[in-house]
Amino acid sequence: MIDRNTVQKILDTAEIVDVVSDFVTLKRRGANYIACCPFHNEKTPSFSVSPAKGIFKCFGCGKAGSAVTFVMEHEHLTYSEALKYLGKKYGIEVVEKEETEEDTQERLRHESLLVVSEFARQFYTDTLFHTDAGRSIGLSYFRQARGFSDETIKKFGLGFAPDPRKMEGTTTLAAAAQKGGYKREFLIGTGLCIERQDGSLADKFYDRVMFPIHSLSGRVIAFGGRTLLTDKSVAKYVNSPETEIYHKSDVLYGIYQAKGAIAKLGKCYLVEGYTDVISMHQAGIENVVASSGTSLTQGQIRLIKRFTNKITVLYDGDPAGIKASIRGIDMLLEEGMEVKVALFPDGHDPDSFARSHSADQITKFLEEAQTDFIEFKYELLAKDIARDPLRKAGLIKEIVRTIALIPDRIVRTVYIEQTAQKLDVKQEILSQEVGKVRRDNIVSGEFEKRRSAERQERRRELESQLPPEERMEPQESAPRQREAEVPFLVPYEKEILYYLIKFGEHIIHFEEHMIVGSEQPVQEITVSEYISAELENDELEFQNGLYKKVYDLYFKYRESERDNDKIVRMFANGPDEPVTQAVLDLIYQEYTVNVKEFQKTLIPEENMISKYVPKIILVYKAKVAEYTYNLVMAQLGQAQREGNTELQNELMQQIQLLMMVKNQFSKELNRLT
Ligand code: CTP
Ligand code: MN
Repeated sequence: MIDRNTVQKILDTAEIVDVVSDFVTLKRRGANYIACCPFHNEKTPSFSVSPAKGIFKCFGCGKAGSAVTFVMEHEHLTYSEALKYLGKKYGIEVVEKEETEEDTQERLRHESLLVVSEFARQFYTDTLFHTDAGRSIGLSYFRQARGFSDETIKKFGLGFAPDPRKMEGTTTLAAAAQKGGYKREFLIGTGLCIERQDGSLADKFYDRVMFPIHSLSGRVIAFGGRTLLTDKSVAKYVNSPETEIYHKSDVLYGIYQAKGAIAKLGKCYLVEGYTDVISMHQAGIENVVASSGTSLTQGQIRLIKRFTNKITVLYDGDPAGIKASIRGIDMLLEEGMEVKVALFPDGHDPDSFARSHSADQITKFLEEAQTDFIEFKYELLAKDIARDPLRKAGLIKEIVRTIALIPDRIVRTVYIEQTAQKLDVKQEILSQEVGKVRRDNIVSGEFEKRRSAERQERRRELESQLPPEERMEPQESAPRQREAEVPFLVPYEKEILYYLIKFGEHIIHFEEHMIVGSEQPVQEITVSEYISAELENDELEFQNGLYKKVYDLYFKYRESERDNDKIVRMFANGPDEPVTQAVLDLIYQEYTVNVKEFQKTLIPEENMISKYVPKIILVYKAKVAEYTYNLVMAQLGQAQREGNTELQNELMQQIQLLMMVKNQFSKELNRLT
């Protein structure tokens, strides 16, 4: 762990322009710098760096962040690795904080689990090569039935788990490990052994060929075991459970053996199973990983993304299987990956195809067979509508939904053009539909929900760098759910925050203005003071949990800093990833409510804040009143159905009051515009 002071020193010293310039050629444009974005392909620059705020943002692909985030993304580093890189660049000595007793315990426990896993790997290998049962059952299966060379078997650390009850001359892993002095605790902790009623240990894997699963750095963390029996009542695969060292959703089979080739070739193949990966390797195609029969997760995609954003999903030609896995592919698109799909000819899977063809033939086949995913999906679905033209609308909807997931605006446009042509619909109509889906997704927090797990993990990582008293309370996904409660108010809360963060410390001048609750007419006040006075006097709090957090944090930062650029900098380096992202999105956001007027006048927005800020506050209050009014109306309906007259009377009174408030607001608003 890096100590807090060093982190701060690095954050204070790292100049974003300087840091980015090591990787990208920047050109000055006014107060900012621009370049072609290093995170996606483009010909005209949409990547912008603000030295004052210490942040970067790409208007094409949407990536944004601080100097540290830039290094993390660009160099595929973790947070602490990026800090170390920057420390080195600026000659700041990075001292790792001494670990706590608890950290030490955990590290030792992890290490013990890894050591036991490696012992098991060795035990299964020895059994495979050096026992009669292993050689006659396991080794002959690998060599003959699967055609694996000994070199391949060793490269993947394959083995055999015996069943000593049936196989003479073999022993259980449990017995061998305990004899070797390995602790029960860790045999159970790795899931390799299970405790029987009488306290003795039983092997989880027996009478199976074994596939060890490696971490990115090549340590054995889990196993998959395949039975060689054809008995349908025996599970084909048994896999290690989730353990402290094996988080299934963050692991891809083969990544350790494949990572070099993936990085070198700038591309990754995704297959289904252990044997697909191994056969492809043996055939000379090494940039292959497997999802191990489950649908892809966020963590797995992120693992691939550390090396490339180009992925080709390989399928055997079974249509049911293809349709089932399309959801996983949608997720790849959403993560900004370039996705292609290749279908194997009838009856072949990657394993059988690789075994029956040469490396050249396979490469050639893959080059020709791979099609762009959206095109592939279109064709898959178009087969259905050939028979039923009424289903065209459904097809359009489905394709629109998929295109809407792509983060890069330019890429989306290209797909919209292509699809419009194919489906023979107007491009503008498709564009509009895509826009609609994207807005819906954002409001309903679809993207956020999927991403929240990933963010939480990142946050945990960031928070572990902080002293305990500065860490945020663990707050699962609760605020996100709140967000969905009142989507109606979200755009207005967003716009208020926009002004708060961008212009919070600028001065509003009033000819004469009475702030609710203040005695004197106020003539000069900062935007932030104005907003907080207006909202707090009416006891209004943001409904959106994330925005509420940004709001509160702004005023906390403001206690020590009164410069908006510097406050943005504090947000950009803050520990709470969703908050950081929200703030970066906000300052580059085109405000919605006032935008038309702004375009008309063409006066710099900064000169207009005295007008805009009071207006958006008023609009927000009017919307809250409208929202409350609708809510009470609904309650009234309910009370009427239930025949509760007392409640009805009470609600009627509230409604009258709210109507007055609503009318008041309309008048005010009319006066302002
Ligand atoms: N899988 C699993 N549990 C199962 C079935 C499958 O974990 N009961 C995973 C394994 O990772 C397997 C992958 O899904 O490798 C693909 O399944 P399948 O095609 O059935 O297995 P293969 O390994 O391809 O085996 P084979 O070619 O020998 O049938
Ligand atoms: Mn298979």
